[in-house]
Amino acid sequence: MDKTKKTILITGGAGFIGSNFIPYFLEKYPEYNVVNLDLLTYAGNLENLKEVENNTRYKFIKGDICNRELVEHIFNEYDIRGVIHFAAESHVDNSIKNPGVFVRTNVDGTYTLIDVAKNYWMEKPFEYKDEYKGCRFHHISTDEVYGTLPDDPNILFTEEMPYAPNSPYSASKASSDMIVRSYHHTFGMDTVITNCSNNYGPKQHDEKLIPTIIRNALNGNPIPIYGDGKNIRDWLYVLDHCKGIDLAYHKGKAGETYNIGGRNERTNIYIANKICEILDELYPVENNSKLKTKNSKLKSYKDLITFVSDRPGHDRRYAIDASKIENELGWRADENFESGIVKTVKWYLNKYGEIKNG
Ligand SMILES: NC(=O)c1ccc[n+]([C@@H]2O[C@H](COP(=O)([O-])OP(=O)(O)OC[C@H]3O[C@@H](n4cnc5c(N)ncnc54)[C@H](O)[C@@H]3O)[C@@H](O)[C@H]2O)c1
Repeated sequence: MDKTKKTILITGGAGFIGSNFIPYFLEKYPEYNVVNLDLLTYAGNLENLKEVENNTRYKFIKGDICNRELVEHIFNEYDIRGVIHFAAESHVDNSIKNPGVFVRTNVDGTYTLIDVAKNYWMEKPFEYKDEYKGCRFHHISTDEVYGTLPDDPNILFTEEMPYAPNSPYSASKASSDMIVRSYHHTFGMDTVITNCSNNYGPKQHDEKLIPTIIRNALNGNPIPIYGDGKNIRDWLYVLDHCKGIDLAYHKGKAGETYNIGGRNERTNIYIANKICEILDELYPVENNSKLKTKNSKLKSYKDLITFVSDRPGHDRRYAIDASKIENELGWRADENFESGIVKTVKWYLNKYGEIKNG
């Protein structure tokens, strides 16, 4: 890597959002090197970073954010000047089955990273070493820390709302946010936290809602929708999230948190129906060879939608008020759900080999 350039540590860069962020960031900022530290759990996939693997300003390191020795080595070896921290266990269903790993990675891991950063950048509380002044720790978090909202469309998550996490996942993310907050207030570290709504787009793991709907539809399998399908999420196209992170990292005020969301509240059943409509148009059931082999009598992918018993503790509604990042940093989402989902379905049709270069 080019030693004259500033090196940023990105954690969890082989996951869904990180692997969308890294190519965007490297292209936009020729003045940075990026070190990507990722453990490559089941959720990490280097295939998603093929486009940058030979970039001379990019270095991948396989390792655990909880490994203090390794994190210290990376700070020393690459003289890290900023951190954008994506690495986490991120799937609510897994946090119900196995909460321990969420506490370890999301809480211990965040603590280890920020503590190493503090020791490397700072002389003592509220005093940065001269050469590290302005070095920032940006923590990527979720709107799920605020808990659930009633159906009233006038009530939205604002940055002032008290935390009320309901799942082991959101509780572990809330805890990590608190640790980052405390490093700003106790040690004077330059921190920023962004809390984002549900992302969708290319490179998301198969386990998540939108890839699951598309994959099951294409294979002619039931499309499982929890409960009555009326749970509401506020959907944001992943590249719009990346642009918000970039703005908050470069222009956000130290110690602040910014909510990022697309003002795109949709129920899960709407999402499933919408995706099926797009598939019916782009890849009608009568052209689908897998369905032909199954002797399927489907008229539309919608016929596959099946309600299954609800997730325990399932939050009813999330919705973000993004006024702060819009007004203070000038962020705007470029996509709405209806435009972003078409791009997304095309990408997965390509991935699952159904339509080439769709
Ligand atoms: N996906 C969303 O809708 C969403 C919304 C808001 C916030 N977030 C937050 O954004 C961040 C990224 O989310 P995502 O959807 O890309 O997650 P993801 O699960 O797709 O990726 C997580 C990445 O972290 C890596 N990782 C896990 N444990 C690690 C460890 N101990 N050490 C190093 N690397 C480790 C994994 O290998 C993977 O590459 C998370 O912090 C998540 O809480 C996600």
